[in-house]
Amino acid sequence: MIKNVLITGVAGFIGSNLLDYLLENTNWQIDGVDDFSTGNKKNIEQYLKNKRFLFIEKKCSHVTSLLNYDCVFHLAALPRIQPSFEFVNEHVKANVNEAIHLIELMIKENHFPKFVYSGSSAIYGTPEIIPTPETEKIDCLSPYAFQKYEVEKYLELLATRYPINYVTLRYFNPYGPRSFNPDNKFNAYSSVVGIFLYRYKQGEKLLVTGDGNQQRDFIHVYDLAKANYKAAIHPERINAAFNIGNGTTISVLDLAKMITPNYEFIDKREGEADTTFADISKANKILEWFPEHSVEEYVKMSIQ
Ligand SMILES: NC(=O)c1ccc[n+]([C@@H]2O[C@H](COP(=O)([O-])OP(=O)(O)OC[C@H]3O[C@@H](n4cnc5c(N)ncnc54)[C@H](O)[C@@H]3O)[C@@H](O)[C@H]2O)c1
Repeated sequence: MIKNVLITGVAGFIGSNLLDYLLENTNWQIDGVDDFSTGNKKNIEQYLKNKRFLFIEKKCSHVTSLLNYDCVFHLAALPRIQPSFEFVNEHVKANVNEAIHLIELMIKENHFPKFVYSGSSAIYGTPEIIPTPETEKIDCLSPYAFQKYEVEKYLELLATRYPINYVTLRYFNPYGPRSFNPDNKFNAYSSVVGIFLYRYKQGEKLLVTGDGNQQRDFIHVYDLAKANYKAAIHPERINAAFNIGNGTTISVLDLAKMITPNYEFIDKREGEADTTFADISKANKILEWFPEHSVEEYVKMSIQ
């Protein structure tokens, strides 16, 4: 039975939405850590007085014990592809070393809470099989993708020696409230839905990379939060990775057109996939998880 959980990266886009979801749908006691490297205090401000939530401002590597937790949702990361090419070491530290610290704590304390790890579909690169199943070959096109995969692999390897109890959720293209943080130094590389809506509201042109025909599988952050919850409550030690996408695609150009005719094209960026399209049948079957939202609905609601 889950009573106490930890969310790392709780002040970020997905972490703060997961906090919303868990406060609303469970009676769990929730601790959250964040070092505000890319997160935003405003995302959690409304919960700071909630008795079921305790915020601790620190890095994951400064967490000294996990004994109190039945489940750890590890979301803290520097999650942008382009900056990971430039600030490689900073990204290795945030995306790999911080996760390893938590895994090592579980081993040292011989305490193995369910570990729900936020992975990424970036590890498929440009996949051959569309929609893409979890068995697709791994093809990391960026340091970020490689770092996300490295942690998956550490979990898999260490679980052969220790009773680690993990689930990796490979998110496709998340969107939803708080996805764009104007104060984040890497915000130019946020999820495209958030940037487009932000620029639209500022009266600025949308910038479509390449020819805009790249296809994206957009997944609402509430659906991601629910996937985290389903992974946490699953009674078995699953120790596997799951695609978490919507199971549909739309081109970036069609997304722009849905918002406004005021857009222009800019250069394609290296390291980014042509198509992301999740085969979500494994998550449907094992986690009993089904997405409920559509990006069309969200865009329509946001621009009204
Ligand atoms: N948003 C996406 O497009 C996307 C896609 C696939 C996977 N993911 C994964 O989802 C997770 C959450 O991403 P997000 O979009 O919410 O990003 P985000 O940048 O909004 O949130 C990450 C949070 O982690 C915090 N953080 C970073 N390093 C930390 C550290 N060492 N210690 C404590 N806190 C730290 C940041 O301050 C921030 O609040 C990440 O693991 C990311 O790799 C995101």
